Amino acid sequence: MSLLNELTDNASFDRLVIVSNRLPITVSKEKKTGHWQYNQSVGGLVTALTSVLENKKGMWIGWPGITEEADLSGLLDQASDELGYLLKSITLNKEEVDLYYHGFSNEVMWPLFHDIQSNCNFDPAYWYEYQVANERFARTIAENITENDYIWVQDYHLVLVAKELRRLGVTNKIGFFLHIPFASPDAFVRMPWRVQILEALLQYDLLGFQTPRDRNNFVYCTEAVLKGLKVDTRRQVATIKTDDRQIQVGSFPISIDFKDFAGVSASPEVTGLASQLTRAMHNRCILLGVDRLDYSKGIPEKLRAFRNALERYDDLHNKVALVQIVVPSREDIPGYRSLLTEIEGLVGEINGEFSQPGWVPVQYMFRNFERSEILAYYRTASVALVTPLKDGMNLVAKEYCAAHVDNKGILILSEFAGAAIQLWKNALLVNPYDIEGIADAIYRAYNMDADEQTWRMRKMRRSIARRDVYWWVDSFLQTAISG
Ligand code: G6P
Repeated sequence: MSLLNELTDNASFDRLVIVSNRLPITVSKEKKTGHWQYNQSVGGLVTALTSVLENKKGMWIGWPGITEEADLSGLLDQASDELGYLLKSITLNKEEVDLYYHGFSNEVMWPLFHDIQSNCNFDPAYWYEYQVANERFARTIAENITENDYIWVQDYHLVLVAKELRRLGVTNKIGFFLHIPFASPDAFVRMPWRVQILEALLQYDLLGFQTPRDRNNFVYCTEAVLKGLKVDTRRQVATIKTDDRQIQVGSFPISIDFKDFAGVSASPEVTGLASQLTRAMHNRCILLGVDRLDYSKGIPEKLRAFRNALERYDDLHNKVALVQIVVPSREDIPGYRSLLTEIEGLVGEINGEFSQPGWVPVQYMFRNFERSEILAYYRTASVALVTPLKDGMNLVAKEYCAAHVDNKGILILSEFAGAAIQLWKNALLVNPYDIEGIADAIYRAYNMDADEQTWRMRKMRRSIARRDVYWWVDSFLQTAISG
């Protein structure tokens, strides 16, 4: 914390302006009165950025999550007062949300960058609206900044913002962080607007990726698609020179507020909830999955692997249960609804085949949970199954470790999650497409002795504590300032 404050006190910018698709609050209509209300988003990113924004009297620009015309000025002022920094909202109507957010962001960028090209819909109408929406974000930024503000744009919805800002004559330093993976050149070249996307990214001053692999993919893509660049990858932060600009390109693995997670996990409330859960599960070995509803998370593959483990290892019967929490998300997009049907079908099949009186092998829940409940599940689970087909980082892996204040628990982790770059030595790494491989890892975890669990978990926790979300903000902004 102190390092961060020191950094931002000495920083060579007056204010930090964060720009993301969603604001750190969600606005909705109160059912009874019809009045607009807001809920603050919780999460490491918001917490970490809040501390810099408060310190620098910063600003956050984004979409409040509604498509209706509404005067939100009073509500935003109230939220700004509560948060300690300014909020500016971008209005998007239903059609804009359909084409820019559901369409280009989540049916082009998301599946392409997660290597699931069969889910891509390269509809030109999406691309036109993506440009219009990015321009809208840029105009709002330009209207609200002063010349010494640092602008930090977040994620794949807003790739074109710097280009639009430059067109409007903005010369401020602008950084960009991609929370999802960057596509490999083989996948990326399918993008019909590949030149425009890469040229737009080169209008930022600092580009941040989750892992060195994503950073390298970006560099390889620019070399493959664009001409006349001078690329230097000898240092940890690479540089790309165009005719008139120099861009820094680095990797900055995002993390969680470790201390907060560990602290709340050890609280009497969570400890009480965890003991209740343990009793309710009859002291069985709990395998836990916590995923947003998304085809990149590999939930059907995980269920098939669990079924395979039950088929091949009889001694797991009646001894283990898979608790699979699925958090609702993006249900208006084709592919997400059918995924839900597939997951629910598989849960039914497994339970139909293996249940016995007093034992239901898969406990499936599809809803939102309070953070304290999730922490209680983390604490109760002997094993976390984090097996995305591809993931920028995956913070569930880090949260599970942070919550295990007892230094117990085993993390089964996909080698295609960004978190594997940091945790590969002490997690049990699996290929999320390898059903038998995951089943074997489950069996190995079930039989792992307490000593081995402890040394593995202790090392993972130490590493996550050292590189928490404050370290992430700090290292990005240090690079931005020194560049
Ligand atoms: C991923 C993205 C975020 C996004 C989140 C939730 O983590 O990187 O930018 O906010 O998913 O998705 P949603 O579409 O609901 O914003």
